[in-house]
Amino acid sequence: MKNKKFYVTTPIYYVNDKPHIGHAYTTILADVLARYHQMAQEEVFFLTGLDEHGQKVQQAAQKREMSYQAHCDDLAPRFIQLWEKLGIRYDDFIRTTQERHIKTVQHILQKVYEAGDIYQDEYEGWYSVAEERFITETEKDSGQFRDVKILKERNWFFKMSEYQDKLVDYIYEHPEFIQPEHRRNEILGFLKQPLGDLCISRPKSRMDWGIELPFDKEYVTYVWFDALINYITAPGYLDDPKKFKKWWPADVHLIGKDILTTHCVYWSTMLLSLKLPLPKTIFAHGWWLVGETKMSKSLGNVINPLDLIDQYGVEPVRYYLMREMVLGQDAQFTLESFIKRFNSDLANDFGNLLNRVSGLVGKYFDGCIPDQSHLMQADLDIRKQAMALEEKVRDYVNHFHINEAIEEILELVRATNKYVEHQAPWKVAKESLNSAGRILYTAMEALRISAVLLSPVMPQKTHIVLDVLGAVGSTPKWGELKINTKLKTHEALFPRLEVKSNEKGT
Ligand code: ME8
Ligand code: MG
Repeated sequence: MKNKKFYVTTPIYYVNDKPHIGHAYTTILADVLARYHQMAQEEVFFLTGLDEHGQKVQQAAQKREMSYQAHCDDLAPRFIQLWEKLGIRYDDFIRTTQERHIKTVQHILQKVYEAGDIYQDEYEGWYSVAEERFITETEKDSGQFRDVKILKERNWFFKMSEYQDKLVDYIYEHPEFIQPEHRRNEILGFLKQPLGDLCISRPKSRMDWGIELPFDKEYVTYVWFDALINYITAPGYLDDPKKFKKWWPADVHLIGKDILTTHCVYWSTMLLSLKLPLPKTIFAHGWWLVGETKMSKSLGNVINPLDLIDQYGVEPVRYYLMREMVLGQDAQFTLESFIKRFNSDLANDFGNLLNRVSGLVGKYFDGCIPDQSHLMQADLDIRKQAMALEEKVRDYVNHFHINEAIEEILELVRATNKYVEHQAPWKVAKESLNSAGRILYTAMEALRISAVLLSPVMPQKTHIVLDVLGAVGSTPKWGELKINTKLKTHEALFPRLEVKSNEKGT
């Protein structure tokens, strides 16, 4: 049987500044999803990259008095190095200044132009400099757009309005297309008003950092029309039809809610014009806030992931970001909640379970995994919970409820800690070593299964656990621990963090 495939993307980030926790979040989320799908034996293609054209990048380069390309080349490694530090295993990294992308964009522009979906017109309207696009009257009145001014210009337009009805029907017929549900409703609401056409050019006289229109040398392509195409450039739309057929449509575009309209409306109508299938799911997560406001490069209130990693390690950061943000909602980033989460889940629950069982096995069984004869009711309860875990986790992950998947795993960890406390193998051992062995075996199996299922979130730390248990490469099925295996020694997985008073809040 052919394996299922899973194509996951992150937004391609603007290279107007170095990455912050928000970018790290989406990228880690994609990595975690990719790893869970790999664990389920699916073939995975994980794409991330950089959006290097357009006004934001142009301005950032000008500020640094660098050429545009030199500026991009200087910042790109900061993203790549951060992803490396964070343990991100992407399959392709796209930069929109790459030849393969420029060619694809120009090919598509020509194709859409020849199909009659691009025309020239003079347009006067509200323009948001910050968003870098024309906005509607209603959008302007919402007050959500910064740097708004009237702009009158001759430009090229994509007939987005032609596809409005088709798109609305599509959204109704495919409930899984835009997630979560409230974002879907937001887009359906937006599509109740007539959709204008999309201005897809910028006159070089005003803005020249972009891909030249193949049919008009006076203009470059609007950065969003350029950037969205990355999702089909990478799997080989232009030059590798076989590869493209294998991977497209994407299974999920992960995005933040800030770029919902561009993905759900611009991109979808572009694909409809190209007669290509739409991505199966566009999933928009909420924002990491600092206090009440969005963490953003433009606002300058960012938390630098490198500082956090240097101080606390990579995997607690991955864990915190995945555990703390509830599907589709905003979340507040505070050092206090980070430390709290670290101490409760990682130090007290997960790390402690390993310490305990390995300590007891060392003391009573010379460090060798004991046999498991005659399970009693309490053991069977733990076994039942552990055996049900894989499917529950998979189901949560398939619905993007990563935080709940993690919580479910931690529930088994906590239940197992309690079980060990109640069963008190250190007392039982005095009367029956067999019974003590049974309890410890059960606890270690539950720990092993928890570690396997947590491995997409914390690949390195869970590897240590599995290595100690002699169970690297094992699956989440009950009973894979090998009796008589000698446990390896290890250091505390997550030493408790002391809360210093100056670290309270942010
Ligand atoms: O919009 N909380 O790039 P960008 C959570 N180049 N996620 C956040 C975040 C926050 N505070 N801040 C940023 C662009 N993100 C375009 C995308 S795609 C074809 C082009 C994440 O550098 C989140 O995923 O502004 C958001 O959508 C993305 O970074 C925006 O990155
Ligand atoms: Mg942004």
